[in-house]
Amino acid sequence: IRIYVPIDAAALSVGAEAVAQAIAQEAKARGIAVDLIRNGSRGMLWLEPLVEVETADGRVAYGPVATKDVAGLFEANFQNGGAHALRLGPTEELDWLKRQQRLTFERVGVTDPLSLADYRDHGGLKGLEQALALSGQGIVDEIKASGLRGRGGAGFPTGIKWQTVHDAKAEQKYIVCNGDEGDSGTFADRMLFEGDPFLLIEGMTIAAIAVGATKGYLYIRSEYPHAIRTMQRAVLKARNAGILGAAVLGSRHSFDMEVRVGAGAYICGEETSLLESIEGRRAIVRAKPPIPALQGLFGKPTVVNNVLSFAAVPWILDHGGKAYADYGMGRSRGTLPVQLGGNVRRGGLIELAFGISLREIIEEMGGGTLSGRPIRAVQVGGPLGAYLTAKQLDTAMDYEALAGIKAMLGHGGIVVFDDSVDMAKQARFAFEFCAKESCGKCTPCRIGATRGVELVDKIIAGHERPKNLAVLRDLNRLMTDASLCAMGGLTPMPVMSALNHFSEDFDRPPPERL
Ligand code: NAI
Ligand code: SF4
Repeated sequence: IRIYVPIDAAALSVGAEAVAQAIAQEAKARGIAVDLIRNGSRGMLWLEPLVEVETADGRVAYGPVATKDVAGLFEANFQNGGAHALRLGPTEELDWLKRQQRLTFERVGVTDPLSLADYRDHGGLKGLEQALALSGQGIVDEIKASGLRGRGGAGFPTGIKWQTVHDAKAEQKYIVCNGDEGDSGTFADRMLFEGDPFLLIEGMTIAAIAVGATKGYLYIRSEYPHAIRTMQRAVLKARNAGILGAAVLGSRHSFDMEVRVGAGAYICGEETSLLESIEGRRAIVRAKPPIPALQGLFGKPTVVNNVLSFAAVPWILDHGGKAYADYGMGRSRGTLPVQLGGNVRRGGLIELAFGISLREIIEEMGGGTLSGRPIRAVQVGGPLGAYLTAKQLDTAMDYEALAGIKAMLGHGGIVVFDDSVDMAKQARFAFEFCAKESCGKCTPCRIGATRGVELVDKIIAGHERPKNLAVLRDLNRLMTDASLCAMGGLTPMPVMSALNHFSEDFDRPPPERL
């Protein structure tokens, strides 16, 4: 009998380890032979720990399971799909999963993350095999045809970035994967590290073959200890299996990679400070140009992409760029792993083609707020993303549609707030965050963020409000125009959206806040 209990950190945080142990003990006590598989998460986080059993009719889900439920589950013959109050039905038939178009996340939660045999059985390495039959330019052309854009947040066309590195003349080139997933409300990179690590290795290897790089670095934030461990073990296994090393899958291509642990600051995720960090220095942002594609790690041409960008690549090579481009809308092609969180009934990972509206995601899939109170604000794109109003929820998840309302898609994180939120305090938080996380290299960000906190405090206290509001707008303009990187340059986005859409929160007399 095969039973799946996730080893994903979100599931572990709500007791999956204890549940796995309880299942093993109970099965032993009852003399039932169980093959316990520790899979990734299916992304239905409100149902974790989600336990699945393999039956003749496919996998059946039960959740959320606590240790106290385990004896009762065996009593109800759950190991054969038996009826129980926690039985959710066949996993693949659950509405949350059925509505999705999982390309990048197709194996996450399905397979044993560290089993290469399972990976191959579920279509793994087919993209790399296709890539090995193509020239570097052939691979780059396939990525261009797919329309893939950088999933880290900026949405730069991946094919054009790879072309730049491909065309650069150098004796050494590098592949760097940015896994410093620092945005609040995002967890897709982590789920992928923990749920399908070989996919990322395969994607980075394809990139290396495309541009002629022989060495890769995977930079994971230090706050992700489970992900770091899983990726380190996966790299070792891939090396032992000849996927990485002097002859990638027996070909003439050589590529190897190592995992680097992040230095614990948000700014380490900015690509140039990340390169500084790998080189062993403090993560201070470098001025661009030169772009990393031409002078990146150790001054050499470097592909720096986000986890989700590399992870999209094997599917594209396996099915063809055009098949990927068939999903999506406008200039946003393919699928986007959306991360839904905050005050929402059903939060988790949703992979869908670009174009679905925020309302469908939050209300239909998420079930509205957890508190049951009306939605007041939604922040899209991390702590530097805009706050949208309930009226703007019909906006499509698409780079251009969001830019059109002065917002950004970022890394696909959505955080929901109900009507108890104080938007002036959220604006203050944006400045506070920037003041804490600024690398300190440029004045608008280093000084501006601290002045911003003080200004919002004065406005909240009702001190010379019209004058201070004018100074606040002026400060935001300055930070947008004159900051060296997105940290200082984008902090005004949450501040200004809060001010423009929720001005009443900046106007209330002080006692109301008490
Ligand atoms: P950017 O627009 O400066 O650059 C985007 C990418 O395109 C970079 O890799 C850059 O090197 C590359 N690029 C630009 N011109 C190029 C050219 N001509 N040829 C080849 N490559 C070229 O944006 P940046 O500063 O890298 O990223 C900002 C974004 O990061 C924000 O929009 C935000 O959404 C996102 N972000 C994501 C976080 C996360 O946790 N994933 C955290 C914080 C911010
Ligand atoms: Fe550093 Fe902030 Fe300037 Fe970016 S904007 S370079 S984080 S000081």
